[in-house]
Amino acid sequence: MNKIEKIWAGIVIAILALFLSTLAYSITIGYNPPSSGALCLPADLEKFNPGVIEREPGVYEVNILAKQYYFEPFKITLKNPKKIIFRITSIDVIHGFSIVGTNVNVMVFPGYFTIVTWEPPQNDQREFLIICNEYCGTYHSTMYSKLIIER
Ligand code: CUA
Repeated sequence: MNKIEKIWAGIVIAILALFLSTLAYSITIGYNPPSSGALCLPADLEKFNPGVIEREPGVYEVNILAKQYYFEPFKITLKNPKKIIFRITSIDVIHGFSIVGTNVNVMVFPGYFTIVTWEPPQNDQREFLIICNEYCGTYHSTMYSKLIIER
């Protein structure tokens, strides 16, 4: 092994060590994607009511059920939201939940609640398109819903 090979081998080992230690650290602090927010057992699914709950003024909990090939509720209208907590689950296959033009973009798994909090831009009053961005079957491309923000 010549000197250059030793240097490159050292760089590769250092990068590998950095990646593995980052992974180990994220496991240690319990860092998970939002898709594994909480288990959704069959009993939870029976009690699950898709719809909007206003937890406090401007703070909404939005429960959404994803199934082939729609979201329930289809149209969500919120008045003056400061903070929106989405709780989403699927009753069949893996779906996506993406609010177009924002950084809300998560996977939705059957058996889990995907919990994601979003603070919409204040003074922004418009209709957002929500799409499924995980291929979930023949009519995947027709799976969408709407979020309307009123001020
Ligand atoms: Cu649901 Cu694609």
